[in-house]
Amino acid sequence: MNPRVLSLNQSNTLKLTALTKKLIKEGKDVVNFAAGEPDFDTPDFIKEEAVRAISEGFTKYTPSAGTVELREAIIKKLREENNLNYETKNIIVTSGAKYAIFAAILTASGKGDEVIIPAPYWVSYPEMVGLAGAKAKFIKTRPKDNFRISIDSLNKAITKKTRMLILNYPNNPTGATYDYENLKEIYETVKDKNIFVLSDEIYETLTYDGKKHFSFASFPGAGDYTITINGFSKAFSMTGWRLGYLAAGSSFVEQASKVIDHTTSCASSIAQRAATAAFRNRQWADDMVKEFEKRRNILFNGLSHLKKITPLKPEGTFYMFCDIKKTGLSSLEFSSRLLDEQLVSVIPADSFGAEGFARLSFATSMPNIEKGIERIKNFLHTLN
Ligand SMILES: Cc1ncc(COP(=O)(O)O)c(C=O)c1O
Repeated sequence: MNPRVLSLNQSNTLKLTALTKKLIKEGKDVVNFAAGEPDFDTPDFIKEEAVRAISEGFTKYTPSAGTVELREAIIKKLREENNLNYETKNIIVTSGAKYAIFAAILTASGKGDEVIIPAPYWVSYPEMVGLAGAKAKFIKTRPKDNFRISIDSLNKAITKKTRMLILNYPNNPTGATYDYENLKEIYETVKDKNIFVLSDEIYETLTYDGKKHFSFASFPGAGDYTITINGFSKAFSMTGWRLGYLAAGSSFVEQASKVIDHTTSCASSIAQRAATAAFRNRQWADDMVKEFEKRRNILFNGLSHLKKITPLKPEGTFYMFCDIKKTGLSSLEFSSRLLDEQLVSVIPADSFGAEGFARLSFATSMPNIEKGIERIKNFLHTLN
């Protein structure tokens, strides 16, 4: 079998999520802080458009890069909300943002190349880089810097072999984000280095305390070498519909399109119609973010009072990163014992390159959050 595949790590996140779902199915009263998806149903106005698409027979292949209508809706969104100017030839709609990321990494890098990934990172980036045949090079970021890359470490990491820098903000798993000034420093550092920047902005709409999102590609000239990733999973609670997209320079898109053409072809025609409708009503998504902000505050306040665990207040996403080093347990021991002894499911952060941390998702109801805090408190009491 292919050594590149054999050397892939299994996703601990997916394993833990599957175990949690199994326990819930068995009727166990699990508090699920492991979820990587909003707990809201996809809104009706989106579902209804999908039903209309099916009734009208809109059930065949579309162009591989996506329907013109959806690409135009994406272009309008990128122009109005992100200050990015693209045409249809710059956009590829994919089966989930995950596939857009893989197609971009595969297009940009291969054997002998390096891809810089700030840690903690989303589990799939290093695996995708490995699958492309390239090498992941990690830069460590720290809680005291709000998990932002230091320019010094970025400069040190860039070599002749560097093909791409991956940015993800708001960040999974830390919940931290970048503001304009931080991004500008990164931009000044990479702009003459002839490397691609993959800017994964899938959590863009989920920011708190009035924080504004700024797209990396909107710096002068950055649109030529930046691949902006976004999608519908998180913003519109459409994880199961599998729909994402990338926006990049036309020569990059031309090459990446070949990857799509020969692997997935187009994303689901029905999901594409539904996604076109998603942009027409932003109120629903805004209300979901308001609810997440309330939950974030409750979870943060609850955990802040506990000894041996230090929650870090997220500026975005629906994840709270917690320092658990004072418990004396490894991330995996902490998560396994918490699930075993208190039926609380959290993700161990060792697989995000952050041993000593755990990721708690607040994409669960307020009563669950309150119950979970109580159980974590009980668990911590049992530790010496
Ligand atoms: C940082 C990050 N990027 C991309 C994705 C992929 O999202 P999609 O469901 O659109 O494939 C996820 C999903 O968890 C994510 O956390």
